[in-house]
Amino acid sequence: MRRFRRDPLGYIEDRARCSPAEVFRLPWGAWCVRDSELALAVLRDPLFHTGMSTFFGTMLPSRSAQILLGRAVRNVMRAHLPAYRERLPEGAAGLGPASQWPEAGPALVYRCAAGALLHPDAPPALQRLLAKAVAGGFTARQPYMRQRVRAEMLRPGLLAAITEHVRDRRAEGSAADEPRDVLDAVIGACAEGSTDRTVTDLYVLLFQSIVGNIGYALAWSLLLACLHHPPGPPWPWTAEGLVREAGRHRPFVWMVGRPVPHALEFGGLSFAPGTILSVSPYLLHHDARHWDRPELFRPERWNEPGEQGPYLPFSTGPFTCAGAAVAHSMITGAVDVLAQGAHLTVSGGDARPLVSGSALPRPFVLRRTLKTPVRPAPTKGGERHDRCNPTHHQEQAR
Ligand code: HEM
Repeated sequence: MRRFRRDPLGYIEDRARCSPAEVFRLPWGAWCVRDSELALAVLRDPLFHTGMSTFFGTMLPSRSAQILLGRAVRNVMRAHLPAYRERLPEGAAGLGPASQWPEAGPALVYRCAAGALLHPDAPPALQRLLAKAVAGGFTARQPYMRQRVRAEMLRPGLLAAITEHVRDRRAEGSAADEPRDVLDAVIGACAEGSTDRTVTDLYVLLFQSIVGNIGYALAWSLLLACLHHPPGPPWPWTAEGLVREAGRHRPFVWMVGRPVPHALEFGGLSFAPGTILSVSPYLLHHDARHWDRPELFRPERWNEPGEQGPYLPFSTGPFTCAGAAVAHSMITGAVDVLAQGAHLTVSGGDARPLVSGSALPRPFVLRRTLKTPVRPAPTKGGERHDRCNPTHHQEQAR
C-alpha cells in the first residue's frame, strides 16, 4: 500500500507487467484485469452486469429506473449546452489573470452550468451553499486530509438544505412538462415512495459527477496542453484532439470496479460472488500493443490514420457513462473559450496525478492574459466605451 500511495499509476503498471496471470491483486484486495482484450470482454460481459449498476448503489429500485434517470439527466444537460456555452466567456473572464487549479475547474463548470443543475428560481441560500461546496472541494474525494475534512464539514448543512428544497418541490409538484434542471430529473425518476433524502443523495451523486468530473478533466486538459506546448495557444492541436488525449493520458476515472454478481470465470480464474473485479482505463490507455508510444502526450495521434487503441475514459459496455457525449462537449467548449485570443501558461504543476478515488491533477496556477488588449477609446461625447472588458474582448474575438 505504501508503494501504491507513492506512485499509484507506476505501481499498477509494474504489477500488470510482472503478473504471470491475466488478473492481478490490488493492494486493497480487489482484482484488476491486466490484459486489454480481457478487460474489454469483462466490461461488455452481460453476466458480469447482471442486476444494477453500482454507480447508483441501492438508491433506485431497478436497472430500468437507473437507465431512465441517467438519460433524463443527460437530456437536461444537453438541452442546457447552448446556455452553458454562452456563459463560458464570462466564466473565463471571472477567473482573472491567475487562477488556482484544479479547483478552478469545477468552479468554472458550476458557474456556467448552474442553471441546469439548479433552476434559478431555487432559494438563493441553497444556490450559495452549492457554490460554497464546489469551492470547498466537495465534488471529488480530496487527496489531502485537511481538504477532505473541510469538504466533509460542508456536507451535513448542504444535504439538509437540499432535502428541504426537495420536500418543497415535491409538495408543489411540477407544472413543467420537461424537467427544468437536474433536480427535476431526479425527482421525476424517483418513485413517490422514495424518501426526500434518497432524492437528495441521488442529486448529489449526479451533481458531483457533472461538476467534479468535467471540472477536473478540464484541469487535466489545460495542464497537459500547457506543459507540452509552453508557448501556449494557438496549440498545434484541435481542442477535440487535446481533450481526447488528456482523457487517454490521464483518465480522471482511472479504475472502475464492481462486485462479481455470481460465480464467474475470467482469464482462467474463478471469482466468487462479491469479489471486486476492476478494469483500469489508465492501463488500457497505456497498452503499448495498441497505442503508439502511449507514454507520450500526443494529441496529434487523434488525427493520424489507422485505428486507436482501447479508449474508455467513460468506461464501456452496459454500465457506460450516460453523460459521455455531453461531458466531452462541455470540456471541449471550455478549453476553446479559455484558449481563444489568450496566452496561457502554467506554473507549479506536473503530469503526476494525485490519486484519491479518482486521478486529480496536482495544484497549479494558470496564467491567462488576453493577447491584444484593447485600450478604451474616447467617443464623440468624450465618454469611454469599456473595450478593455475581457468578456467583451473575447466575444469580439469569437
Ligand atoms: C469528464 C466527465 C465524466 C467522466 C470522466 C465520467 C465517467 C464515468 C464512468 C467511468 C462511469 C462508469 C462508472 C462505473 O462503471 O462504476 C460513469 C457512469 C455514469 N455517469 Fe459519468 N462521467 C462524466 C460525466 C458525466 C456527466 C456529465 C453525467 C450526466 C450528465 C454523467 C452521468 C453518469 C451516469 C448516470 C452514470 C451511470 C451509468 C449507469 O450505470 O447506467 N457522467 N461515468
